[in-house]
Amino acid sequence: MTESSNQSGRTVHIRTYGCQMNVRDSEAIGALLVRHGYRLEKNEADADVVLVNTCSVRGKAEDKALGKLRLVVADKVTRPGRKVGAAGCMVQRLGATILKKVKGLDFAAGTHRLSALPAMIDAVYAGRGPLVDTGELEQEAESLTGHPDGTLSAFVNILLGCDRHCAYCIVPAVRGREWSRPAENVLAEVQALAAQGCREITLLGQSVISYGLKNQVWPDGYHSPKEFLEPLPRLLEAVSAVPGVRRIRFTSGHPSGCTAELARAMAEVPGVCDHLHLPVQSGSDAVLKRMRRGYTAEDYLGAVRRLRKAVPTLALTSDVIVGFPGESEADFDATRRLMDEAAFDNAFIFKYSPREGTPAAAWVDDVTDEDKARRNRVLLEDQDRRGQALNEATIGREVSVLVEGPSLRNKERWAGRSSTNKIVIFDPSESVHVGDIVTVCIGRVGPQVLYGTLKGKSYS
Ligand code: 5AD
Ligand code: SF4
Repeated sequence: MTESSNQSGRTVHIRTYGCQMNVRDSEAIGALLVRHGYRLEKNEADADVVLVNTCSVRGKAEDKALGKLRLVVADKVTRPGRKVGAAGCMVQRLGATILKKVKGLDFAAGTHRLSALPAMIDAVYAGRGPLVDTGELEQEAESLTGHPDGTLSAFVNILLGCDRHCAYCIVPAVRGREWSRPAENVLAEVQALAAQGCREITLLGQSVISYGLKNQVWPDGYHSPKEFLEPLPRLLEAVSAVPGVRRIRFTSGHPSGCTAELARAMAEVPGVCDHLHLPVQSGSDAVLKRMRRGYTAEDYLGAVRRLRKAVPTLALTSDVIVGFPGESEADFDATRRLMDEAAFDNAFIFKYSPREGTPAAAWVDDVTDEDKARRNRVLLEDQDRRGQALNEATIGREVSVLVEGPSLRNKERWAGRSSTNKIVIFDPSESVHVGDIVTVCIGRVGPQVLYGTLKGKSYS
C-alpha cells in the first residue's frame, strides 16, 4: 500500500480507557495504523508499540491510565526496541506535562491529533522522540474514521466536542467546541460499513441530541425546502434507509432533545432500538441547577414520559454523580426517588471528582469520601434490585436479538443483544449465524443478563 510507512512490519497493541467515543477512536487509530503497514497485536507482551488511549473525565480514570503507562514504560528495559505512547483526552488536557508525569514515554497525541500518530511513531523510531502533539483545540476537525474489518456493530461519530459546559465536566475543555459532522460524511461512513457486513450502527456524540443544530450540511436527496428543525430524527431516517443497516442506536441523550418528534422517530423509523442512555446526574433541582444541566427533575421525568408513551418497551439507562458539592441527604433522597420513578434499566454511578479548570472545582468538595462511598453503594444496590425486577417482567416474552457469537463465559451457549441493549444468552442452532436477528423467548434473568430459548429467525 502506498500509504505504508512501516516497512518493518511492526505490531501495535492498543489499550483503551473511557467512554464509547474512546473505543471508537481506538478503532480508528487501529485502522489508520493498519493502513500504514502495522499489525494489530491483541497480546500486549508481544507488541512492538504499546499505545494507551486515555480518559480524563474523572481523577480515577486518569490515575488508571497513568499507572498503566508507567508500568508499560518500566517494562521497556526487558523489551529493546519497544516504544510506548499515549493518546486521547488526558493527553489533550495535560499537553507536554505528560512527559513529566510518565518519564520515558515516547510519544503522545491528543484527541485532535490522532491522525498524526503514524508519522509520530516513525519519527520516534528515527530517534526524534519524545514527541507530544495536541494541536489546536477549537478546530472544526473532521473525525478520523476507520473500523476493524468485519465489524458487526460500529460506533460512528456524528457530533464532536460539547458546548454544554456542565459545571463538573472536563469534556468541553479536552474535546473542544461542538461540531456536527456533515450528514453526507456520516452517511458515507455508514454505507461503507453496511457494505462490509456491519448490521448495527451507534451514532455517537457527547450530547447527540444537539446534532445538526448549529451547522447543517445535507447530501443531495435529503434536502428539504425548509431547514431541518430537528436534524437528529432526519439523520435516523437517512441511516435507516441505508441497505444492510438493521439496528440504529444513538448516545448520549439530553432531556431537552427528547421532543415529540424524536419520540415519533424512535417509534416509527425502522431499526431504531428501544434503548436510550439519558444521563440524569441528579434528582435534586438544587443540585441540577448548580451542575448547570439546564433541566429540573420534572423536566427530565417529562422527557421520559414522552418517550415511553411513544415506545412503551423503551429501556433507559443513565449516569448519576453522587457527592457533588453541597449535595445533602435530602438531595440524595431526591435522586433515589427519581431513579425509581424513571425506572432505569441500568445506571452508572460516579463519585464526584473535581476536575481542574471546571467551575465546580472552585467550590468546596464538601461531601466526605465515606458519604460518597455510601451513596454510591446505596444507588448500586437499588439499581441491582430495580434491574432484576424489570428483567423479571420480561420472563415469558419474546425479544429480538442480534447474534454476536459464542458467549464469553460458556462457549457452548451463544450471546447477542436485545433491542433494549441487554445481553441475551441462548442455545445455538446450526441455522443461526453471527449477524442474524433471531427471536428468543426469555426463561430466566439476572440484573444484567437475560437467558432464553431460540424461537426463530427474522433476518439472516
Ligand atoms: N466527577 C464525577 N463524575 C463525572 N462525570 C463527568 N464528570 C465527572 C466528575 N467531575 C460522569 C458523568 C458523565 C459520565 C460520563 O461521567 O456522570 O455522564
Ligand atoms: Fe459533560 Fe455535560 Fe457535555 Fe456531558 S453534556 S460531556 S456532562 S459537558
